[in-house]
Amino acid sequence: MNTTNQLPALDIRPLNAEDAERYFLLRLSGLEESPLAFGHGADEYRRESLEAVAAGLNEVAGERVTLGAFLKGELVGAMTLTRDPALKQRHKASIYAVYVAPAARGQRVGERLLTTLMDWARAVPGLLQVQLSVSVTQTAARRLYAAQGFTVYGLERRALHVNGRDIDEEHMVCFLDGG
Ligand SMILES: CC(C)(COP(=O)(O)OP(=O)(O)OC[C@H]1O[C@@H](n2cnc3c(N)ncnc32)[C@H](O)[C@@H]1OP(=O)(O)O)[C@@H](O)C(=O)NCCC(=O)NCCS
Repeated sequence: MNTTNQLPALDIRPLNAEDAERYFLLRLSGLEESPLAFGHGADEYRRESLEAVAAGLNEVAGERVTLGAFLKGELVGAMTLTRDPALKQRHKASIYAVYVAPAARGQRVGERLLTTLMDWARAVPGLLQVQLSVSVTQTAARRLYAAQGFTVYGLERRALHVNGRDIDEEHMVCFLDGG
């Protein structure tokens, strides 16, 4: 693992509709390469229109953002945070579609993306907790979340059924106000 001063320069910014094609390709390769990590399948995602992908990408202040990480101008990682719209649940947000391309892994791209995303969440008035679900098979992801203060509050047995294999998911939460 690199130490901080050896890390490659990384640009992290909110994606927008103009990033739709590169985001689509990254997400599709993630669904193909890491089928145990995600609730959606590559075949389902392949049917998405670029218009639909673009519509979902634009940041909505305080409500939704997809951050992208760029190494030498190439999109190599992304993650999305969405605040719950229901009035009684607006203190909660969820993170999903967390992915770093294999060639870019182990260089703290995921950590730097998640740090930026959690800073974004902490700046939203009234947002008190961030939640996510992670397949128990995803060791790197579980370490990444635990290091940023996420703790497990539930285990969902057989949350996913992938190619005949049952996959359990941990549900994790990070209380922004300490809980
Ligand atoms: C999870 C993921 C985003 C991490 O990205 P990354 O840029 O490689 O992660 P980082 O370099 O920031 O490292 C984050 C943590 O994972 C650990 N890690 C990285 N690669 C690892 C590996 N192959 N095995 C075990 N731990 C690993 C790091 O050591 C670090 O933990 P530490 O702080 O305790 O040392 C990436 O591995 C990925 O996209 N995985 C497949 C998809 C997935 O699992 N998504 C999550 C869905 S909930």
